[in-house]
Amino acid sequence: MDTGKISKDIQTQWAGRSIAFFEEIDSTNIMAGALAEQGAPEGTLVLADHQTGGKGRRGRQWFSPAGTGIWMTLLLRPELSPERISAITLVAALSVGKAIHQVTGLDTGIKWPNDLVVDGKKVCGILTEMRFVPGSSPYVLLGIGINVNQTEFPADLPHAYSLRMALEKRGVSDQVGLLERRRDTDRMTITGEDIRERIIAAFCTYFENDYETYLQSGDMRLLKREYEENLTNLNREVQVLAPSGSWLGVAEGISDTGDLLVRDEAGVLQTVNSGEVSVRGVYGYAE
Ligand code: BTN
Repeated sequence: MDTGKISKDIQTQWAGRSIAFFEEIDSTNIMAGALAEQGAPEGTLVLADHQTGGKGRRGRQWFSPAGTGIWMTLLLRPELSPERISAITLVAALSVGKAIHQVTGLDTGIKWPNDLVVDGKKVCGILTEMRFVPGSSPYVLLGIGINVNQTEFPADLPHAYSLRMALEKRGVSDQVGLLERRRDTDRMTITGEDIRERIIAAFCTYFENDYETYLQSGDMRLLKREYEENLTNLNREVQVLAPSGSWLGVAEGISDTGDLLVRDEAGVLQTVNSGEVSVRGVYGYAE
């Protein structure tokens, strides 16, 4: 990956202004946490071509093979109370969706709170970790994994999907061509484009803007409408998997704090918090 190209494309004041790139690393979240402890500034972006211990939500592993995806963590140092931090992950989902659309033309949907889906399958996951530092503001590790170039996934990941698979399904061969790094052996220069670089730059640009909008109100109020327009769960039946048991309802949108609003079978509008429960579509992963 050419970080010089990313830096050239980024149009931001702070997001991605400092990039730490690693060919192989356990997890960009772990590395970003170490850099944060050493005083790295807000907006530091940690990128890896390959993660050997990629972390997913709920203690799962995140499949992060070399050269195929975007494995990145953005360091944030928000001056917000802890309960206002978890919705940053919803903001990031919006920004990633716009970056993917700008570069590939694909429309993604958001499966609450922060998975991005195309054709009902997952192309992006986000793991936001918050760390408290005695005597100063907490910092946030916004870890984003985007499946870009995979042509297949292991059988134990039935919902995983890549941008390349989605583009191939649509017969968008020009854009699929962009996904490949082609080496011009005569001149020994790389002539193909690595689409990952453009998506990363576009993400930083969109996110800086969306995050500043979030900070204006300290909640999702100003972004809620745009988020709901992209929410695949909206007006669909969802199964809420709570520690006390699972129940069915219809998702009606999100609250200002980013909780999912689900009308249960008794007609009561329930507030579902992402820290406590997960939801799944009734007919499949996303719908
Ligand atoms: C999920 O389970 O949906 C969240 C997946 C988050 C994966 C990304 S890849 C870059 C960053 N580093 C990690 O170890 N995890 C996140």
